[in-house]
Amino acid sequence: MTSENSEQKTPWFLSGNYAPVQDELTDTGLRVTGSIPAELSGLYVRNTPNPVDGQGGHWFFGDGMVHGVRIEDGNALWYRNRWVKTTKLEGGLDAMDPKVMMDRTASSANTHVIGHARKILALEEGHFPYELTRDLDTVGCLDYGGKLTTAFTAHPKLCPETNELHFFGYGQLPPYLTYHVLDSDGKLTHSSEIEVPGPTMMHDFMITRDHAIFMDLPVTFDLQKAIKGEIPIGWDESYGARIGIMPRFGTNADIRWFEIDPCYVFHPMNAWVEGSKVVCDVGRHEYMWRDSMDDFAPSYLYRWTFDMETGAVKEEALDDVSHGFPRVDDRKVGLKNRYGWVTAPRPGDGGGMDMDAAGVVTRYDLEKGTTEVHDFGPNAQPGEFVFAARTETSAEDDGFAMGYVYDKAEDSSRLVILDAAAPASEPVAEIHMPRRVPHGFHGSWIRD
Ligand SMILES: [Fe+2]
Repeated sequence: MTSENSEQKTPWFLSGNYAPVQDELTDTGLRVTGSIPAELSGLYVRNTPNPVDGQGGHWFFGDGMVHGVRIEDGNALWYRNRWVKTTKLEGGLDAMDPKVMMDRTASSANTHVIGHARKILALEEGHFPYELTRDLDTVGCLDYGGKLTTAFTAHPKLCPETNELHFFGYGQLPPYLTYHVLDSDGKLTHSSEIEVPGPTMMHDFMITRDHAIFMDLPVTFDLQKAIKGEIPIGWDESYGARIGIMPRFGTNADIRWFEIDPCYVFHPMNAWVEGSKVVCDVGRHEYMWRDSMDDFAPSYLYRWTFDMETGAVKEEALDDVSHGFPRVDDRKVGLKNRYGWVTAPRPGDGGGMDMDAAGVVTRYDLEKGTTEVHDFGPNAQPGEFVFAARTETSAEDDGFAMGYVYDKAEDSSRLVILDAAAPASEPVAEIHMPRRVPHGFHGSWIRD
């Protein structure tokens, strides 16, 4: 090896617990500490970029691998990890190739995994969904009988009252933004193009009981850079920042745009209606990818209030501790929530977004304006935690928060189940994984 090569560092997204694993396991003999609540029956599953060739140009482009734990009547029946067998993975395609970007079947399928209308969908925002079986095998790509012609966000919103799935697709070429709805049977029943000034990376969106809410923010897409093989997205403050609020099932004629201070939001926590106002709690980054893909600001819980009668906009910070992966009880999506769940830096360990740093899981009580923290210790790195209600009708804090936690000292992972009413207490149960689960993105508790 030349001295020049020996100085090349392994990229951060292939190091530590970001590094991919290279096999698919099935383990039916999981060790459990504590006691899994007998009310829990379902599948916890989370998606993770895991490049099949062990390489990849950026964390965001790795081939999706889902890690799932099947729980039945309080027993952990199995752990399975499976790549999502997309045309990109099977064809060895390059996510940065403009042709792959434009081929809607060539998904990395690495960002989220959800349950809707008796299907499990692996999602990545530039492409179509991939359907998985309950054993996490790949069924195939979904285009809804050819009716879906745009990308499908990784952050659709499942309405807890109607079981409709509201979502959108953004494009690097027109149409830059299209709003869609799947009905409760998973049929595509509404598609409506929304006019925006240009192509942006619109990672997530919100619903209320009455509205669909779009975040048109200044992380813009430059196809010329993609053609030259450069990273095609970055911060462009001149684009401005605006929030579009429209009635559910609306069209472009119905949308109202509200100007806000430039910022980026990967993940809102939730949104709801209060009288004439639409309230949005979001994870607000001051900027994103300003000088490079490694140049980003942390996200802080922030509240936007839009008065639909007066047009007034109020922006306020709710916390000065940074966070990641905001989630609420899925039964509160689009409705006023009291509690929210995030990951955060460990107290005293400073800020930052690095999942290789130790962290905590925090429960916000937005009614009281307080937080309660579960500290897993100096070696523990929690991923996203999701809420699982004890029963379909139990209260918002009557249930559990669960997610994978990586232990750096032991190089091992466990699925930790916390009591949602007492999150700082000892975990209710810890299900020990047969080997580490790499850092990843989003997942779901899919109740039977
Ligand atoms: Fe996300």
